[in-house]
Amino acid sequence: MAFKDLKFPDGFHWGTASSSHQSEGGNHNDWTEWEKIPGNIKDGSDTSVACDHYNRYEGDFSLAKEFGHQVLRFSIEWSRIEPQQGRWNDSEIAHYRSVVKTVLDRGIRPMMTLHHFTNPLWFRDLGAWLNPESPEIFGRYAKKVAESFADLDIIWNTINEPMVVAAMGYLYGDFPPQEKDFGKSQTVTQNMLMAHGYAATQIREIHDKQGRLQPQIAPVLSVSYFMPHNPENPDDVNLAAYLDEIYNHTWIRGAVTAKIPDLEGNNHRFKPLENSVDFIGMNYYSRMVVSSEMDFLAGEVPEKDPDLPRCDGLDWEVYPEGYYPIIKSYWDSYKKPLFMSENGIGTKDDTLKRAYILKHLQQVHQAIQDGIDIRGYLVWTWVTNFEWAEGFGSDFGLVGMEPETLNRIPRESAYMFKDIIQNNGLTKELQEKYLR
Ligand code: FCB
Repeated sequence: MAFKDLKFPDGFHWGTASSSHQSEGGNHNDWTEWEKIPGNIKDGSDTSVACDHYNRYEGDFSLAKEFGHQVLRFSIEWSRIEPQQGRWNDSEIAHYRSVVKTVLDRGIRPMMTLHHFTNPLWFRDLGAWLNPESPEIFGRYAKKVAESFADLDIIWNTINEPMVVAAMGYLYGDFPPQEKDFGKSQTVTQNMLMAHGYAATQIREIHDKQGRLQPQIAPVLSVSYFMPHNPENPDDVNLAAYLDEIYNHTWIRGAVTAKIPDLEGNNHRFKPLENSVDFIGMNYYSRMVVSSEMDFLAGEVPEKDPDLPRCDGLDWEVYPEGYYPIIKSYWDSYKKPLFMSENGIGTKDDTLKRAYILKHLQQVHQAIQDGIDIRGYLVWTWVTNFEWAEGFGSDFGLVGMEPETLNRIPRESAYMFKDIIQNNGLTKELQEKYLR
């Protein structure tokens, strides 16, 4: 195959993404409690130390700077900022202000997520996202954060992957609170949609009140490419289309159109969602093949393709061909700028990791060539971290971590990514080197 230089547009943003709970260590939230129960984390690990990023963030960001990063996406930990309902921890707010300033001091743009899976224990005890007041409760947290951070130049992410919270926590029971109830997962989806609306409204109002420029605000969605097991079977085709709709589209359409869909298929106007989406964060990892002969909602899927490489632990197939169509469907449906806010693979095989990134970037480049407004691309993740129910069994880092010393060890993929950033694209030589 003949490769060509693939240039990205001027001003395209390159970087990596992470979350507080997966890297900080020392948190106290619903996940830390859940990790203690044997069997919940596949390798029996926990986040008591994680990457000790809470203490090492300066070093981690300096290393990211050396490797050319232009954006760092991270989350702040709600349970640290609001350890009891309505009681704010000023020293934790000061900590995260210092985190943001450390990013800014290095000439990197911070993309800050308010909620990335974890909940304070008091919020869990109130019923978390099933509580009808959860949207307002989250809105009050967002207000406090906006008041404390509006002077800093931040790209705001409200909620990370609401559909994963709903599906993994309330349908499949693989994440806390381990429920398996379709109706509950729908309630969670709706409440998180309203919560996003309240959060965006608060961020806007506080910026206005303080006379600041309006920041860019986005929710971040997990997207998957749903494919029929048998493309000749209309039932398989319909099932793939149905799941594409409920997983990829229902939530974000609600946010963009400011309407909350209910279980009966009606839409209700919800004012706080107006003007809540400046761009859409898309996290893509793999495809999902579905068969009408199996119960997808009970977790049944056809056997995976033995010829495709897979992500360790999570067992996701490497399927870059699914990236372009889902990007295109988002663009065609919502006409909002897109940001590739996570993409990567959990593997210790760095050859596979490099090829994964290059092949996915080829798809992103094609989408941009076809006129789609994509603003940036972030690899998940910078330093190897705690991969939720997989523990440390799925290694997504461009930078490895020595378990005993926690020393950071950049892999060849980190150098490859640096080359991509420096060239603002994929040179012919780079593709020849890593995709032959
Ligand atoms: C995404 C999550 C992120 C990370 C990757 C592998 O669903 O947002 O925290 O675990 O998957």
